[in-house]
Amino acid sequence: MSNSPQKQAPFQYQDLGPANSNSRAEILAGLREERKRISPKYFYDDTGSALFEEITRQPEYYPTRTERHILTEHAMDMAAAIGTGTVLMEPGAGSCEKVRLLLDALKPTAYVPMDIAGEFLQRSAARLQSDFPWLHIAALRADFAVMPSLPQGLPAGPRTLFYPGSTLGNFSPLQATSFLRHARRLVGDGGAMLIGVDLHKDSAILNRAYNDSAGVTARFNRNALHHLNRILPADFQPLQFRHVAFYNGDRHRIEMYLESQIEQTVTAAGEVIYFSPGEKIHTEISCKYSQESFTSLAAAADLNVQNCWQDADNLFAVFLLTSDSP
Ligand code: AVJ
Repeated sequence: MSNSPQKQAPFQYQDLGPANSNSRAEILAGLREERKRISPKYFYDDTGSALFEEITRQPEYYPTRTERHILTEHAMDMAAAIGTGTVLMEPGAGSCEKVRLLLDALKPTAYVPMDIAGEFLQRSAARLQSDFPWLHIAALRADFAVMPSLPQGLPAGPRTLFYPGSTLGNFSPLQATSFLRHARRLVGDGGAMLIGVDLHKDSAILNRAYNDSAGVTARFNRNALHHLNRILPADFQPLQFRHVAFYNGDRHRIEMYLESQIEQTVTAAGEVIYFSPGEKIHTEISCKYSQESFTSLAAAADLNVQNCWQDADNLFAVFLLTSDSP
């Protein structure tokens, strides 16, 4: 054992996050609508990010462990297809856990995790840095729906966007296409994207995954209201709202809502919002794809499916997309 401490490059951190005042107008606009809605990004304050991690450990929630299995199994194939020495970017990186499965195979010249939950991101980046001292990390707090410009000083060379966890499913197909177009510009010509996608399957499996018996998804859903209470501020009573999640087979998506249990009013940033009993706030969609439907989604953003890795039960897929241009 050597006494000399391992030199560890401190990771870079930059905050490009939206001011809360911008969010306030956006949230109120959603709550004023005929069909009330809030963006799923409000799930992810520090508590919400931790609750999501807890969801991924629930027996009913298969996506995370299935994807981890695929990444572990095929990391070498993925690295062979992508090439080592790229700049690896990850929007919505959260705990930065999944990228660990790829780092030794992929050997990126830099890793750029981006997330809206700043403190959570910094803690994740710090842990990652101590486990991978050789890795250049440039963490960014950003709302990645509006793809941020990248920090200065990143190594040159091809870029790879890592977007695991079926996070793309939070967008409608139209929004997903526009996200992929933005992402295509970010990685540039010769760039690649490694994207985790939840697949069509029996609706009973999907309904169970979003209604876990321990009630963690319900707490996660209601946490959006705690979050709004803090940032607006507002006086939602989260327990007066019921967690509702079901698979809409026609649209191939999970729909998630918070349903008012009673007639009530809530004051949000000084504005009084009325809820009739049973009235719902739409909080999330989680779109599911097939090989075919994801391939045409990619095509709409000028991207090719280069490769696709799946688990034996075809629950989940990791797609490698490349850009068309010469
Ligand atoms: C993080 C968007 C992939 O859609 O499965 C989990 C979020 N919502 N349980 C998903 C979520 C309810 C999750 N994503």
